This record gives sequence, C-alpha cells and structure tokens, in this order.
Amino acid sequence: EKAGYKHFMLKEIYEQPRAVADTISGNLPWFRGEMPIKGLGNFKPERIQIVACGTSYYAGLVGKFYFENFARIPTEVDYASEYRYRNPVVNENTLIIAITQSGETADTLAAMRLAKERKAKVLTVCNVIGSSATRESDAVLYTYAGPEISVASTKAFTTQLTVLYLLSIHFAVRKNLISNPDIYLEKISEIPSLMEQFLEEEKKKQEVKNLADRFHKVSNALYLGRHVNYPIALEGALKLKEISYIHAEGYPAGEMKHGPIALIDENMPVVTIATKGRVYEKILSNLAEVKSRKGITITVTNESCKEVIENSDFSIIVPETDEFLSPLINVIPLQLLAYYIADFLGYDVDQPRNLAKSVTVE
Ligand code: M6R
Repeated sequence: EKAGYKHFMLKEIYEQPRAVADTISGNLPWFRGEMPIKGLGNFKPERIQIVACGTSYYAGLVGKFYFENFARIPTEVDYASEYRYRNPVVNENTLIIAITQSGETADTLAAMRLAKERKAKVLTVCNVIGSSATRESDAVLYTYAGPEISVASTKAFTTQLTVLYLLSIHFAVRKNLISNPDIYLEKISEIPSLMEQFLEEEKKKQEVKNLADRFHKVSNALYLGRHVNYPIALEGALKLKEISYIHAEGYPAGEMKHGPIALIDENMPVVTIATKGRVYEKILSNLAEVKSRKGITITVTNESCKEVIENSDFSIIVPETDEFLSPLINVIPLQLLAYYIADFLGYDVDQPRNLAKSVTVE
C-alpha cells in the first residue's frame, strides 16, 4: 500500500505532481467555461469568507492573495472554530469557501451551517466525495489528491492551492479583469513537472536529509516568509510541530523586529522562504537581521538568488516559478524536512500522538 515508501506521508509528498496534475484536469471543464460550476450559476460574490482548520486554513491564507490580487474580491480567512462564534457579517452576496480535505471537520461544518443560515452561498473545496461538507454546500469543487492517509496533510494542501488559484482566475474572467485565462492555465500546468524536478533529484533529497540529521535535536525553530509565502512559513512550522514534536513558530518576516527577533541566538534555526518575487529584497534584509544576531539561517531559495545563498548557512534550491504559484513548490522541502526530522527521531510519522486524521468533534 505504501508502494515501497517507508511511510504514507513520504508517499503522499511524492504523489504531489500527479495530484496537482489531476486536480487541474478535473477542474478544467468549468475553468474553460464548458460548463458552469454546479450550484454557483452566475453568482458574483461581493466578498469571500474562507473558513477552514489547520493546513486547510493555511491554504485559505494563500487563497486570499489569489482572490484579492486576480479577482479583486475582498477576502477574509477565518479559523472555522473562531468564525462560528464571532457573529460574522455575512449576507446573500457573500461566498463562503469551506476548505476541508476530509469534509468531516466539525468546526468547518458548523461555520458553513452558520453562514448558510445567514443566506450566504457556500462552496466547499474538498477531497472526499460524498463527505458531509459536500452534501451540505451549494457547490463543490474537488481536489483530486486521492486518499490522504497520513495525519500530516501534504498533497491535499497543494491541490487545494490549485483549486483556489483556478477559481480566482475564473472569477477574474467573469469580472473582465482577465481576458486570457490560458496564460494562467499554462503557468499552473508547469507546476507538476517543476515539483517532479525537485522531488526526483537525489541530491536535493540528500540535502534535506542532511539538514534533518543536523537539526533533529533542536527544541525550537522559527519559520519566516512574506506575501504568499508567509502561509507557507506557517505550514512548515505546523508540519514540524505535529510530527516531530519540536516547537516551531511561523512568522511574517517583516514582523520579526516587533518581538520574535529577541528569540534569535546561535542556537535558533531560522527557516526562511526566500524565492524570487516582489518581496525578495525585503526578505533579504530580514535574513541579514537574523544573520547579524547569529541565528542559523536555512533558506528555501532559487538558484539565481545569489545574495540569499551567500547569507545562508544552508540553502535548499527549488525551481523558480511564478511568484503566486511558488507556494506549491516551496512547501515541498518543508514537508520533507519535517518528515525526515520525525523519522530521525523515530516517531510514528503517519500517526502522531494526540492527533486524528479528521477532527469530527469540537
Ligand atoms: O480535513 P480538514 O482539511 O478539514 O482537516 C483540517 C485539519 O484538521 C488538518 O489540516 C490538520 O491540521 C492536519 N493534521 C495538518 O497536517
């Protein structure tokens, strides 16, 4: 069942090129305008509210960039457990997007029900056909990740990003903000082979393993990112926490000087996502801040980012891509890093303590 992999998590990390490719093709009919999104009709949301938990929530945080940047739709992202108790301002012009791998997460279902009572349209991005969330929503878009067995979510996340990207372009087209969606389709269609490029290179895997070997005994780690890669810092930290039980915190790099920089000393590994994009120069100066406090700088970066590489104690080079799609690539080394650290520590990677695959109670 594990197809020769030691754990489901590793297998699922390696399935991502296929999962993303299937998710693109599975959603092509509505993206190409060959058929409507069933249950959504011509609905033009004035606002979007995304509700989700855990890794799916982080996918939502990236989605906010997509909906705002491409479709210019104001978008909020809430933890479902917060949304349901906060008396949200929501009406019939609001689109709720529930993101849930399992479709059974209690808080997400409760948030959806609340929004429905208040007449919002509810669309679910889900990986499990026929799950509760899919039955209770007006419209469903599937991720085609295939069954995700490992408690730590990997391929569900990258396929969620894929759907959110396509949906944001779809709304942008409907608002006449984008006239040539094929350009965007081409960009995302390159992602599976870029993922593969990284995953199939034995040397890269060894680099990540070496890092894991070196750092598996630390008790804290900081993950930094900005813009679309800020949620990836959060996701990288969550992966490490949940399977290796090492305390890790994700932070927007620009917020460092407002507090967390005090944590940095020669024992603190700081994993920074520093790939090409509009915040590249900014990240570079954040990196210098870490370095001047003797923090251990580990970066996820591109080959052309010479200044980053020079300022890093360790860097993992990933293929360069469009900045809005870079999260789909950049998350992979962080998934692998958490995986190999947990494996070095001898933990039960697929079934971490205290956690369940789907959280069906509040
Ligand atoms: O099935 P869901 O996407 O609704 O699950 C949400 C979270 O419980 C889930 O993402 C959790 O955070 C994972 N263990 C993260 O790896």
